Amino acid sequence: MKAYLLKLLYPCLLICLVLPLSGKASGYADIQPIALKCEHLENPIGVDAAHPRLSWMMSDNRTGAKQTAYRIVVGTDSLAVRNGKGVTWETGKVLSSNNLVIYNGKALAAFTKYFWLLELWDKDGKAIPAKQVSSFETGMMGMENWKGTWISDRNDVNILPAPYFRKVFSAAKKVKSARAYIAVAGLYELYLNGKKVGNHRLDPMYTRFDRRNLYVSYDVTAQVQSGKNAIGVLLGNGWYNHQSIAVWNFDKAPWRARPTFCMDLRITYSDGSTEVIASENSWKSSPSPITFNSIYTAEHYDARLEQPGWNTVDFNDSRWRGVTMRAAPSKNIVSQVMHPIRNVEEIPAKTMQKFNDTTYVYDLGRNIAGVSKIKVKGEAGTVIRIKHGERLYANGHVDLSNIDVYHRPKDKNDPFQVDIITLSGNADEFMAKFNYKGFQYIEVTSSKPVELTKESITGYFMHSDVPATGTISSSNPLIDRLWWATNNSYLSNLFGYPTDCPQREKNGWTGDGHFAIETGLYNFDAITVYEKWLADHRDEQQPNGVLPDIIPTGGWGYGTANGTDWTSTIAIIPWNIYMFYGDNKLLSDSYGNIKEYVDYVTQISPNGLTSFGRGDWVPVKSQSSLEYTSSVYYYVDAVILSKAAKMFGKQSDYAFYSTLAEKIKTAINTKYFNRETAIYGKGVQTELSVALQWGIVPEEFKARVAENLAKRVAADGMHLDVGVLGAKAILNALSDNGQAETAYKIAAQDTYPSWGWWIVNGATTLYENWNIQATQDISLNHMMFGEIGGWFFKGLGGIKIDEQQPGFKNILLKPNFVSGLDHFEATHDGPYGKIVSSWKRSGNSVIYKVTVPANSSATVYFPLAGGKKAYKGTQMLTDKLAIGAGNYQFEIK
Ligand code: BGC
Repeated sequence: MKAYLLKLLYPCLLICLVLPLSGKASGYADIQPIALKCEHLENPIGVDAAHPRLSWMMSDNRTGAKQTAYRIVVGTDSLAVRNGKGVTWETGKVLSSNNLVIYNGKALAAFTKYFWLLELWDKDGKAIPAKQVSSFETGMMGMENWKGTWISDRNDVNILPAPYFRKVFSAAKKVKSARAYIAVAGLYELYLNGKKVGNHRLDPMYTRFDRRNLYVSYDVTAQVQSGKNAIGVLLGNGWYNHQSIAVWNFDKAPWRARPTFCMDLRITYSDGSTEVIASENSWKSSPSPITFNSIYTAEHYDARLEQPGWNTVDFNDSRWRGVTMRAAPSKNIVSQVMHPIRNVEEIPAKTMQKFNDTTYVYDLGRNIAGVSKIKVKGEAGTVIRIKHGERLYANGHVDLSNIDVYHRPKDKNDPFQVDIITLSGNADEFMAKFNYKGFQYIEVTSSKPVELTKESITGYFMHSDVPATGTISSSNPLIDRLWWATNNSYLSNLFGYPTDCPQREKNGWTGDGHFAIETGLYNFDAITVYEKWLADHRDEQQPNGVLPDIIPTGGWGYGTANGTDWTSTIAIIPWNIYMFYGDNKLLSDSYGNIKEYVDYVTQISPNGLTSFGRGDWVPVKSQSSLEYTSSVYYYVDAVILSKAAKMFGKQSDYAFYSTLAEKIKTAINTKYFNRETAIYGKGVQTELSVALQWGIVPEEFKARVAENLAKRVAADGMHLDVGVLGAKAILNALSDNGQAETAYKIAAQDTYPSWGWWIVNGATTLYENWNIQATQDISLNHMMFGEIGGWFFKGLGGIKIDEQQPGFKNILLKPNFVSGLDHFEATHDGPYGKIVSSWKRSGNSVIYKVTVPANSSATVYFPLAGGKKAYKGTQMLTDKLAIGAGNYQFEIK
């Protein structure tokens, strides 16, 4: 069954399975702890944290539902745990509504499955019995537990084919459980007895390989059989052995080498004994049919070189060579505890145009990041070239000229986004394993005639497979489409780290990452990706506090523009993770790094103003002062740091950095704010917007500055005049300060320059340039203008974070019933469950419905401008109402 069908049916299956057991379809049976997670994942394996985080939701749809106490029992014996008998940790009944708790029991042992049971007490103090036991399993928990050696084949970086590795071993006794732990510098596919283990793609995630390597854990109990078994490993280059040449010099990265891996296959037999089959000297290696693979450009494959059964027991490997032992790429090998990259969506071709029997062009109907799969039969030795691009020339052929501009190939052997396959003469099937691309169109050319049909090509949308957590639906199809396109770009740029674009660069541009953070977190449960990316930040930070433009980097990006408007990721990302999840671990882990960063900026900017930055990138027409915008981000960092200092009880830091923040703000306002006119700088959209968005404007001037911004937008014909910094700020700046009507008008604008202009011109992703005719900076899949996808939740749905009770413990609901929309609904699955904010016009009134999940609360702010009144039934309300969990309906008229 197709994966998406399974996903759809899953809830029904669950209900069918659970109902007969629990006996009742409603009432107390539905009240239970749900979504139990460890390190923000359900039942993870390979957890290395000594004090993992446990979190949950409470399913209880009664009005005012809340958790008054919890009790956690953790142990290694699931039955004992089920009976409430803790072995390693037992919290006792804790009177608290917390739903995120840090494990604080006995020291956890490596390679151990821990079961945990959660009991809650409801609003009436009644115990809610736990329904199911959840689990987490520890991994290596330290370098010393590895048994394997890093091995590679005997080739150097100049040898192109991807290597196979194999090892046959015997499982002497009955297998009780088996785990595979594989650490790779480069990329891998792991096979057991001929079958691929797991469905991860492009694993492990990209890190700065000489500082930190990731290992991946699999439960392979079902794949290991008693008796003989074969392990197969195929290694790809990824970012580790970057062969393609482009302007960022990844081919010269200090870590570059032939891919290598270390693996422990740990078997526990039913008699309790364990055995580890590890990577070592006796493994064998051979070149695979993948004759070339570049994460950046493409993959080449010669089907004539296939070795059927290479990863099975009976394969004759007498012609294979031995391996070479290698030093570990770094001394820091840690578990990859995150949602992996997958082929998430299968996209059939929408159209095929046959030019002749050697040239075909396919259109997927939408722009994606990922790969294509081709099924083709042709004469042995036929060479097929599969070119992937975002645009077509007028003559219908694929045009790469908007995305191949930074590629510097030394010869014709590494064409951009072109897979090259050589046919075997049998029916061949090919899909790149160690590369992905950004594309909508696929041009297939063949050295000899081949017969292809529309079904011969399929697209696969790949990305970090983070669960979706947000929805938008409205009466304006343009808004709904924009939201969808924004998410498409967000996901196209999420590959274990956020990228700028999936084709031209695939770089972890810092600025693009934080411009997109709120949109990302309203729509997806992406904490695991950001926690990993901030670890990449910590790896990259210079001793003086400076961070590079792109992270990870092979050394490029320490220029002069890598300043606050881009590299403030170090503060902005952890802060937003805390805001959206109520989890301050990342902020705590990054605290010292934020401090070093802010101290560096302070050292080069003694008067409180800094020009360390890039400025309002890709603007429509107006420029804003670089010193002004960079100083605003410097202020943002100092504020985050001072708030973090306060939360972590660092009193002197708090005093120091809050004073610094005030100093920066004063310096900005003294130089750039005209109190007479209530204008910042020259008064262009970006200058007015960033001051409002980032809290620079003195309270008493906010309304006037926002009015000036609205006037500026009107004078600009209700169109945007911003680059990335303005695009991040302008919608919030308006809707947070009484100008929601103007915000909506520019959000729903469909002529140039606007987001909608892209959509009416056929965009299914966001672009890099407002001007679709521009000749540079014209990727068609960029996330840097993507704040609008988060703004829908805030500015129209009004679902906002309460900084005093983050993680949507208390939700601020501040909807704007803007003219031009008849209805609007936003939902967000936060840490407590689904939040719904939905409004609909009905005659002269607006019906406003909200859902506040159990164990959280909300403060509703009714928009009552123009003398409107809010009602709950017949009861008239004031403009502000505090509510507990439940479903509510209000009428505003
Ligand atoms: C990238 C951007 C990035 C910018 C910074 C571009 O090449 O694609 O998204 O932020 O450079 O200058």
